[in-house]
Amino acid sequence: MKKINVGIIGLGTIGTGVYKILKERKSKIKKLYNIDINIKKTCDISESRKKNLKIPSKDFTKDYRDITRDEDINIVVELIGGTTLAYSICKDAIKNGKHIVTANKALLASKNKELQKLSDQNKVNIGYEASVGGGIPIINSIKDSLLINRVTSFWGILNGTCNYILTLMSKGIDFSKALKMAQNEGFAEADPTLDINGKDTAHKVSVLSQTCFNINLDIEKIFTQGIERITSYDIDVANNLGYEIKLLGISRIINSKLDARVHPTLISKDNPLSNVKNEFNAILVNSDNLGPFMAYGYGAGMMPTASAIVSDIVRISDSYKIEYLQSELKIKLNKFEDIKSKFYLRISIKDEPGNLGKVTSILGKYKINIDKVIQNNEGSKSKIMPVILLTKSLELKMLNKAINVISRNKLIRGEPLIIPVEDLA
Ligand code: HSE
Repeated sequence: MKKINVGIIGLGTIGTGVYKILKERKSKIKKLYNIDINIKKTCDISESRKKNLKIPSKDFTKDYRDITRDEDINIVVELIGGTTLAYSICKDAIKNGKHIVTANKALLASKNKELQKLSDQNKVNIGYEASVGGGIPIINSIKDSLLINRVTSFWGILNGTCNYILTLMSKGIDFSKALKMAQNEGFAEADPTLDINGKDTAHKVSVLSQTCFNINLDIEKIFTQGIERITSYDIDVANNLGYEIKLLGISRIINSKLDARVHPTLISKDNPLSNVKNEFNAILVNSDNLGPFMAYGYGAGMMPTASAIVSDIVRISDSYKIEYLQSELKIKLNKFEDIKSKFYLRISIKDEPGNLGKVTSILGKYKINIDKVIQNNEGSKSKIMPVILLTKSLELKMLNKAINVISRNKLIRGEPLIIPVEDLA
């Protein structure tokens, strides 16, 4: 029987789940794979977790180097998050010939090239199934089951916190209360601004684009807009028009360019992604032979994420080549303002005769075709009223040009909200 020694660095929520599954399923893994996976050492800054898991002192350390430099350890599980210490840990482990398993999307997104080079040089694998979509087996599905396909696009609800907040807001709960509830449930990041402003989703788009398109995608180059400006009013109006508002991470090859972006999106209620509620994640992948394929499940949480980590540990232990690292495809990025889409536009205008007419006539000059106009100021004493315009398909840059003119003419107040309406093709 093959014997594999694992070191776990970080015994927080996911680390605890990994420890539990590896202990609980030890005999099942032995039976199925003929591999004995042994947790040789665990590391954390706090002793309390050691106590909770009843880890013997000889199997516990506060110094990660006791794991990354232990000659008997084959796989290092990095679960501390962040990009500084986590990077040092991974580098040290790889240089010492250890395979890495991690859920750290921020690290993979920012240090992809460096880790790629290092793991190639040292002939080790990096398992990262848990970094995108938590427990959903999306990375390995793309690598295994879709292997004879060329992926053309993916559309993902990749942040449980945002999806939970948007779902609660559609039930009348306000943004800040919904965020507090997400934090209490434990799926928000330590710094929840990373969830809300779309950065967490951008990290996942970067990692998944590497898997799907073989490209190192710098997150600074991904157009990223969060859910901060979405109101319950937007969600209600979108609903009445037959749409849900979701924060989507999108990456697709279009006209030989990569179109990668993160933003709130209006999705028709006919599309299965619109039915993904609460903290659930889902990823819709389009590929040439298979066509559409959708994966759905928990994108965060102790046991789902730990399930993905342990599946990577078993794969690597079974000498399965995960092939994180392939030669990089050179591709140009599409600019966000070049996207062509229908748009949901919310503007605030002064409630005076002729104002809306002036706005629509400027839109007309820029050949912007309006599908629907929604204004409802009934019962409101406010002189400023929100107006929603749903456009037909057009280039975003034309809409931006028209809005500049509308703003210059002082016809609107504040910054307009523009949300793409996607057909997910
Ligand atoms: N904060 C993330 C989320 C956790 O809400 O989806 C999983 O990456």
